[in-house]
Amino acid sequence: MLGIETSCDETGVALLRWEPGAPGHGLLSHTLYSQIKLHAEYGGVVPELASRDHVRKLLPLVREAMAQAGLTPADLGGVAYTAGPGLVGALLVGASAARAMAWALGVPAIGVHHMEGHLLAPLLEDNPPEPPFVALLVSGGHSMLVEVKAIGEYKILGDTLDDAAGEAFDKTAKLMGLPYPGGPALAKLAQQGRPGVFRFSRPMTDRPGLDFSFSGLKTQVLLAWQQSDQSEQTRADVARGFEEAIVDTMIIKCRRALQASGAKRLVIAGGVGANQHLRAELAAAGAKDGFQVYFPRLAFCTDNGAMIALAGAIRLAHGQHQDETVQVYPRWDLETLPPAM
Ligand code: KG4
Ligand code: ZN
Repeated sequence: MLGIETSCDETGVALLRWEPGAPGHGLLSHTLYSQIKLHAEYGGVVPELASRDHVRKLLPLVREAMAQAGLTPADLGGVAYTAGPGLVGALLVGASAARAMAWALGVPAIGVHHMEGHLLAPLLEDNPPEPPFVALLVSGGHSMLVEVKAIGEYKILGDTLDDAAGEAFDKTAKLMGLPYPGGPALAKLAQQGRPGVFRFSRPMTDRPGLDFSFSGLKTQVLLAWQQSDQSEQTRADVARGFEEAIVDTMIIKCRRALQASGAKRLVIAGGVGANQHLRAELAAAGAKDGFQVYFPRLAFCTDNGAMIALAGAIRLAHGQHQDETVQVYPRWDLETLPPAM
C-alpha cells in the first residue's frame, strides 16, 4: 500500500505491507517533506502556497519511498490518500495524484480520513492496542476524545469548543514572540521553566463533560506575559505554566473518558502527542490508575504517510475503496465513517 498525506503543510509518503502474521509485514519505507520554512515568514500556513508545494514535492517523494523500499509501481496493491479533513487545495493534490496512479496501475484507491489515520498510528508499533480503547486526538486542528469500539466505529466523547490543543500551543507561542510553528518551540522552552511560578486555570474541568476549550487559557497567558518583566526566565516559566495547564486538563479528561467508556486502554495521537511532558504524565497516570497507554513513535504523531497507508490497508482488507472519481472532504465527521468489517 502506498500512503499519501497532503492535508496541510506536510507532504508524507509511505509504503506498507499489511498482512499481520505474514513475513515482510510492516512499514517498508517512509518519506516526508515539511513546508515549515515556506510558511514561517507568514506566521501560519498559506493554503495556496501549501497546494503548490505539494505539487512540487509529492512525486519525488513517491520515487524516493519506492527506491528506499526497493519496489516498483507494479508491486503496488493499492494507493491510499488523505481525502479529508484539511485544506481543499492541498487535499486535491494528493487525491488527484493517488487516483491517477491507482487508475494507471489498475489498483484500488482508498480515501482516508486524516483523523482515523492519526488514531490508528499506534498500530504501527510493537504491542499494538486492541479495540475497544479511548483515543485522545490532539493536533493543530483537533482536540478530541474518541471511543473506539472497533476500527471504524467511532463515538466522539469530547471535542474542542474553540482552539484545538496544537492551535493553543501555536497561538500562545506567537503571542510570547516565538517563531512559527510555536508548539514545539514552546514545549522546548517549558523544559527550562520552573513549575508552579505561573498557574493558569484548567479549562472546563470544574464541571462534568469531556469537551475542551483552550482559547481562554491563551488570554490568561497573554495577560500574565504582558504584566511580567518579560525576561527569558519568565518566558520559560510562563511556557511551563501553560503546558502544565494543558497537560493537566487532558489528563483529567482522559481519566473521565476512560471511566465513562469502561475502556482500559488509552491511545494518544496527533501532533501534540509528541509533547514529552504529556507523554510522561499520561504514562504515570496510567500506571497509577491501571490503564495502558499507547503512543505512536514521535515521527508518527505529527502528519505522515505511514498512518494513511495503514488506514487505507485496513479498509482495503475489508473490501472498501473509492470509485474512479477525485473527491475530497475539507470537513468530514469521523462518526460518519463505515465500520471496517
Ligand atoms: O497532527 P499535526 O502534525 O497536524 C495536524 O493535523 O494539525 O499537528 C500539528 C500540531 C501543531 O499545532 C504543533 O504546534 C503541535 O502539533 N505540536 C506540538 C508538539 N509538536 C507538535 N505541541 C506541543 N508539544 C509538542 N512537542
Ligand atoms: Zn494531523
